[in-house]
Amino acid sequence: MATTQTTTAVEGTIVVDGLGVRFKRSRSSRRNFKDLFAGRTRRTRPGEFWALRDVSFAVTPGEAIGVVGRNGQGKSTLLKLVAGVMLPDEGGVTVAGGVAPLIEITGGFVNDLTVRDNVYLTAGLHGMPRREIDARYDEIIDFAELHESVDTPYKHLSSGMKVRLAFAVISRLEEPIILVDEVLAVGDKAFREKCYARIEELLAGGRTLFFVSHSERDLLRFCTRGLYLDKGALVMDGAIKDVVARYNAEYGV
Ligand SMILES: Nc1ncnc2c1ncn2[C@@H]1O[C@H](COP(=O)(O)OP(=O)(O)O)[C@@H](O)[C@H]1O
Ligand SMILES: [Mg+2]
Repeated sequence: MATTQTTTAVEGTIVVDGLGVRFKRSRSSRRNFKDLFAGRTRRTRPGEFWALRDVSFAVTPGEAIGVVGRNGQGKSTLLKLVAGVMLPDEGGVTVAGGVAPLIEITGGFVNDLTVRDNVYLTAGLHGMPRREIDARYDEIIDFAELHESVDTPYKHLSSGMKVRLAFAVISRLEEPIILVDEVLAVGDKAFREKCYARIEELLAGGRTLFFVSHSERDLLRFCTRGLYLDKGALVMDGAIKDVVARYNAEYGV
């Protein structure tokens, strides 16, 4: 089963069922003695590992979900599967309605196109009609504070500017599901605050949110429910404050 779009369920609903993704380890990482005895290696070929395994949960429209876990535990991989930009090796993801993903800073933007053309391209790819993009264009550039750079090729933006542009566009789409990976942390504090206020507006409007963050404060601010990923397994799915408390107890400093 692969990622499927369906229109029968209420928009914003997500069902993740027995999800598994395996990757090849890079050639440079030598297999060591410990790997030979590591669990859950069944059905991986030599040199492969499960980045996610046996992950199941369902999300109802309007839920705000915080995803926690140490680096490399499968958080971004999970978001990519929900976004449909990666396919699972096991299980499946069913998503009702479109997804507005802010997963990687450069995701979806074209290096040699200007800021203006990238706004039109990305919004257009998400099905926004041209006249609608025209109507929202100024709002997007205002939000991103990129007035001086609309004719600049994307590749010449700083990473902070790229994040501004990405969030400004993604948060203006009408998709019912919004994914925000850690990339927002690249922005400065004032911009982040503006993004968070926008996320709160979107949530008040009934959007479904996945939010990956290492900031306890930010997680508790928006999210009602938490998913805790460790070594590719969903070790806890519960109220955000309980999930954050357990994560802190296990890995907090
Ligand atoms: N395209 C890929 N090819 C090979 N390994 C990958 C790929 N993407 C992610 N990984 C590996 O999968 C694991 C989970 O990655 P990721 O989901 O990005 O973690 P997180 O977002 O929790 O930090 C890591 O070990 C990472 O190196
Ligand atoms: Mg990540």
